[in-house]
Amino acid sequence: MSLFGKSLILCVLIIAVSASVSEKLLKIPLLEVGEIWVKSVYKLNANLLNYVWNFVDFYSPTFYIGLAVLGFLSYHFYGLVFRPINRVRVLGDLGYLPDGKFSMKEIANNVKQRRAVGDIPPVYPNGWFGLIESWRLKNGESTNLSMLGQQFAVFRDDKGEAHVLDAYCPHMGANLAVGGRVVGDCIECPFHGWKFRGHDGKCTDIPYTDKVPEFAKVKSWTSLELNGWIYVWHHAEGIEPNWTPLELEEITAGTWQYKGRTEHFINAHIEEIPENGADVAHLKQVHEPFIAAGIDLAGMWNKYLSFGQHRWTAQWTQMPKPDEHIGSLKLTHDLTFFGISLPFVFLRVHAMQIGPAIVYLTFESFFGKGVFIQSLIPVEPMVQKLTHNIYIHWTVPNFIAKFFMFGEAIQVERDVMIWNNKKYEAKPMFTKSPEDSLISRHRRWYGQFYSENSPRMTFKKKDTLDW
Ligand code: FES
Ligand SMILES: [Fe+2]
Repeated sequence: MSLFGKSLILCVLIIAVSASVSEKLLKIPLLEVGEIWVKSVYKLNANLLNYVWNFVDFYSPTFYIGLAVLGFLSYHFYGLVFRPINRVRVLGDLGYLPDGKFSMKEIANNVKQRRAVGDIPPVYPNGWFGLIESWRLKNGESTNLSMLGQQFAVFRDDKGEAHVLDAYCPHMGANLAVGGRVVGDCIECPFHGWKFRGHDGKCTDIPYTDKVPEFAKVKSWTSLELNGWIYVWHHAEGIEPNWTPLELEEITAGTWQYKGRTEHFINAHIEEIPENGADVAHLKQVHEPFIAAGIDLAGMWNKYLSFGQHRWTAQWTQMPKPDEHIGSLKLTHDLTFFGISLPFVFLRVHAMQIGPAIVYLTFESFFGKGVFIQSLIPVEPMVQKLTHNIYIHWTVPNFIAKFFMFGEAIQVERDVMIWNNKKYEAKPMFTKSPEDSLISRHRRWYGQFYSENSPRMTFKKKDTLDW
């Protein structure tokens, strides 16, 4: 049902309920209740107009300044309450310690170059990766994406089907998605006009020859579109998919609606981010202080805000065959003020890590059910793009969804400060505790997404000066 239809039904219901309540209270027939209502509205209008007319000076500049301020505030209030959240944070926006001398961008760059990387696993695991959110690519549009060490030309044909091809044209290397047009189910190279078919990459037309040679083709990547994402399959051995991400039926059916997104760029190895899901010991240290205390890990222990605390319980386990590519995290979140739990922000979360780079965090809240879809993809070996989308039941007002999304973003941004500055520790100093052994289990589980030819980052030995 459309939003208009729902609003109409809601209005009729409100009128019907309030009219019958008024009838009961006033003990007069329903018709007279209607009359009283109409008269009251007239009176209110007349009083309002009278007030405006007598007290507002239309010739004073103050009136127009006031009007502008009111317009400005209303615009922002509307945005805050109704527009979906879109919080984008690139490297240098957060997650580094300012030093008062350099800009945050310079600090980000310095840390990126000088940090110890550690003995990292391969940099591009095998599995499905969210390339781009569906709404970003309309019919007939194309885009060039540089991720997973590849250059992709992603386009949506005129029937709405999305395709992923290698971006470089095999003829003379032009980038198909930079200036190339979508023609039917093909993308046309901007340089000499060769056309490549979306679903198999075959060249279907060369404008200056009658016959298209058999070898004229570009690599076509296995892709699928689901839950608002265009996913691509990446496998270092060229093996075709033996699993697919799960479809969230509530999204397909429209019962859960899109209410916003966040996007964070993180300077870390990809595995660090999902590993957080099995790291139950960090929840208290990093995520317990009240979100109002901010994202600075040293500064968030503000004693004036210690009345608010986020309490967590978590349990991570890997699913048995044939779902061994799924990790399951059961989580509860409680916000307490002076030790008393606030029921309307209590969340029961089931996070499913599906492969190396997708997480569905379905939650039950006081207001209704929903999901955070987390999508992770390497844009460089040590730079990850992490996107969260929130979908929630259509009856939940936007500002509630925004509050949830904002809370999630603050918690992620605390992790970003750890990830941006840490070293990957291949041989961690683990204790004999259930908490640490869970991380070992997660590492073994994640190891299934690397194979013999998974790309590794190689280090060139730097020339050093001896003195
Ligand atoms: S480079 Fe693409 S058609 Fe020539
Ligand atoms: Fe975390």
